[in-house]
Amino acid sequence: MASRASICFFVLALSLFASSFTNICAEESVSESESKEFVLTLDHSNFSDTVSKHDFIVVEFYAPWCGHCKKLAPEYEKAASVLSVHDPPVILAKVDANEGENKDLASDFEVKGFPTIKILRNGGKTVQEYKGPRDADGIVDYLKKQSGPASVEIKSVEDASSLIDDKKIFIVGVFPKFSGEEFENFTSLAEKLRSDYEFGHTLDAKLLPRGESSVKGPIVRILKPFDERFVDFQDFHVDALEKFAEESSLPTVTLFNNDPNNHPFVIKFFNNPNAKAMLFLNFSSEIADSIKSKYREVAEQSKGEGISFLIGDLEASQGAFQYFGLKEEQVPLLVIQKAEGEKYLKPNLEADHIAPWVKDYKDGNVKPYRKSEPIPEANNEPVKVVVGDSLHDIVFNSGKNVLLEFYAPWCGHCKKLAPILDEVAISFENDADVVIAKLDATANDVPSDKFDVKGYPTLYFSSASGKLLEYDGDRTKEEIIDFIEKNRDKTAAPHDPSKDEL
Ligand SMILES: *[C@@H]1O[C@H](CO)[C@@H](O)[C@H](O)[C@H]1NC(C)=O
Ligand SMILES: *[C@@H]1O[C@H](CO)[C@@H](O)[C@H](O)[C@H]1NC(C)=O
Ligand SMILES: *[C@@H]1O[C@H](CO)[C@@H](O)[C@H](O)[C@H]1NC(C)=O
Repeated sequence: MASRASICFFVLALSLFASSFTNICAEESVSESESKEFVLTLDHSNFSDTVSKHDFIVVEFYAPWCGHCKKLAPEYEKAASVLSVHDPPVILAKVDANEGENKDLASDFEVKGFPTIKILRNGGKTVQEYKGPRDADGIVDYLKKQSGPASVEIKSVEDASSLIDDKKIFIVGVFPKFSGEEFENFTSLAEKLRSDYEFGHTLDAKLLPRGESSVKGPIVRILKPFDERFVDFQDFHVDALEKFAEESSLPTVTLFNNDPNNHPFVIKFFNNPNAKAMLFLNFSSEIADSIKSKYREVAEQSKGEGISFLIGDLEASQGAFQYFGLKEEQVPLLVIQKAEGEKYLKPNLEADHIAPWVKDYKDGNVKPYRKSEPIPEANNEPVKVVVGDSLHDIVFNSGKNVLLEFYAPWCGHCKKLAPILDEVAISFENDADVVIAKLDATANDVPSDKFDVKGYPTLYFSSASGKLLEYDGDRTKEEIIDFIEKNRDKTAAPHDPSKDEL
């Protein structure tokens, strides 16, 4: 359940930045005319062999139909050509994960969306998620760093200023010498989290831009672009270090606006398992400052209570509004979403509402919000209309066998399926135990703990006793009827005409 919710958040994070991805393909691919391809094509037959020969190889799992993959392709190829002359060599490869014979490979690598990019080290013994940018220059920079040492020594002020980017998190270890258990543990931490943060180590804290400069160490200092700007830590257990890094790298309040420097923090915000409080408002409005400061107070008081806080500028939040089914006239709007998917809403918020409402939420006194169209007054067509508010009555609590289509009004495959579903519904018209129904998933909330709706149409079957199955057969009248007959529960008192005569 949790993993499903986090995929949804990931998809959300991607769609939030949809606009920042669209620029990527504008640049012409230079290698189009040259025939040499720098990206290796791998498949199930030669994947292990190839990977085992390389200390550092990057693999993209893609699907031919995926739009983000198509945008990435020329950038990835350009990066591969630049990196082909890098020392040590950095190899870029790709696998068509949609191809039947490669599917096991994709599932071994837990590929859940496209493109998924992995960095494989030591002949494939270590696998790490690629978390870098998707333009050629960004890919090259990120992979150069990833292929070098996990932590870089800082020997001078110049080293420090070239390595430490003021807009990013940088984790630095200060040591009296580069040996001993503390140093080893720091290095393990750097190896483990190198795709998320940049790491450095030094013998001299005076070289660092912030923090007490007289410390001799061993200490770990996290330099960050928000809140208190730096924080020191001295517990060198690897687990403690990791927890410290993860906790310190999440701002008290994550800022969501059009500045791409903030996007990594927004992604982190959506990927963490906490409940998520999101306040959307117009940053240029007069009340913005008072709302921001009250919100921040509440966020500080709620530390350690399993809620993460984000504040979003209306201008950057179109994607979020669509995703959550919110309206601009509700702004300033506070939304809390639990990891299980429930949402709580406080529209047209004033600064003084924030603390009491969040308290009510924590005390369990706020009712969850559900996006729903109104329940239709007449529902006489063969295919019944289900909305968010009638989902329980028609599907889960009806004691009937229900085939439910999740559709989107704009989806072509759904339009093709509509007359077929009509026919199926008509064929069951005299069977009171079977219902064929549809739900517009763009206008109604779909409980993500029950249904995994990633595309349209998605069909689920809920048997009379509540057994839930996804239908993935052919979309023909005969197949669908067969499936229903095979999986339906007979009700407690079946109507058997042969016994009528007794
Ligand atoms: C792997 O096999 C595929 C299919 O036979 C081939 O197209 C590809 O070039 C091979 N890749 C390597 C690196 O040998
Ligand atoms: C280094 O990490 C290991 C594993 O977490 C731990 O057992 C050990 O005590 C740590 N060393 C120091 C000096 O904290
Ligand atoms: C935000 O507020 C400013 C100042 O009141 C106003 O000019 C602007 O139109 C508002 N933006 C939106 C998207 O409502």
